[in-house]
Amino acid sequence: MLIPNQNYGNLKESYLFFHIAQKVEAYREKHPDLPLYRLGIGDVSRPLCDVAIQALHAAVDEQAKEKTFHGYTPECGIPEFREAVAGYYARRNVKLDPAEIFVSSGASDELGDILDLFDPVSPALITQPAYPAYVDASIMAGRKVLFLTARPENNFLPLPSDDIEADLVYLCSPSNPTGAVYDREGLQAWVDYANRRGAVILFDAAYEAFVEGNLPHSIFEVPGARTCAIEICSFSKTAGWTGTRLGYTVIPKELEREGMNLNAMWVRNRTTKTNGISYILQKAGAAVLKGEGLRQIHGNIRHYKENARVLMDALDECGIRYWGGKNAPYIWMACPDGMKSWDFFDLLLNEIQVVGTPGEGFGTSGEGFFRLSSFGNPVDTKIAAERIKKLLKQG
Ligand code: MLT
Repeated sequence: MLIPNQNYGNLKESYLFFHIAQKVEAYREKHPDLPLYRLGIGDVSRPLCDVAIQALHAAVDEQAKEKTFHGYTPECGIPEFREAVAGYYARRNVKLDPAEIFVSSGASDELGDILDLFDPVSPALITQPAYPAYVDASIMAGRKVLFLTARPENNFLPLPSDDIEADLVYLCSPSNPTGAVYDREGLQAWVDYANRRGAVILFDAAYEAFVEGNLPHSIFEVPGARTCAIEICSFSKTAGWTGTRLGYTVIPKELEREGMNLNAMWVRNRTTKTNGISYILQKAGAAVLKGEGLRQIHGNIRHYKENARVLMDALDECGIRYWGGKNAPYIWMACPDGMKSWDFFDLLLNEIQVVGTPGEGFGTSGEGFFRLSSFGNPVDTKIAAERIKKLLKQG
């Protein structure tokens, strides 16, 4: 008799965003005439920028002619894409060899797949509240998970100490869900910890394009990261491609453990388990990472930041404490009057038809907090902000 993966028995019954989608759908079926204001999952609302659309069309046209047609693409990425990502990093003086860049179908897929590189006996450390896929993918792989709490007292940016016995460390900066960003000193502390222990950091940079000022966008801006870190990034939030699906992963050539080279292992993995990513998407991905493409994707990001401003103004008026919103598309607010986060979710849905994400969904230390996304359309966001204000002021 086949034995299924017993680790699935250790998971919550359903994944956070799937569970919320089901709750919202049940509400919609009961109240088909009520509009819904969606500030829940971080799904974008702006169309793809013009440079992306033009590049997609051009790549489709190439596929229409025998001379320019492409079949399989190289599994780790077409050279033009890998070079474009290297150029994107070079703008911040991070020098990468294109062979250190691997194309992917997005960060969430990759954050699970990458666990293939590590023995499941190596415990993982997750700073919590955290993107729930880190925890669930680790549990599915049968890995022990340790948690380190991010709380207002540490600005939601916990630091390592040598008594933490973790071999894999998940870091997300800017953080989903809290919006907190590590500065160079903070990242340096993690890099030093990982190099001392022989641990590896999985650095989720999905929200880096929202960072302002002199804060780091990449862990490779910090000395020593090349011997202890893997960076995973996505076009979902950088270019607003949640439905288009494209990402990349950086594994430096120096990254070795127990005499095994992780870059070479990932080449072995990708060439075995994938047949590459669509040529069309990689061409468009390369186009948006430079010149006019970059200008246009930053235009979309500014637009989402405007939504964040509207939401933060509403919370200011209500005297509600919140974090994030500036260097991240998420606003992490304290639930009013010490409410539990799922109760606040129900209140917003039932009373004002606003959908957010309960903090508890990001782990127990998220209880008492609530996440609002700024990726919605501006009209809905303004209505939602007005409704939140009215509800909380009545309070
Ligand atoms: C989120 O809302 O946390 C993200 O959009 C979900 C994801 O990227 O999978």
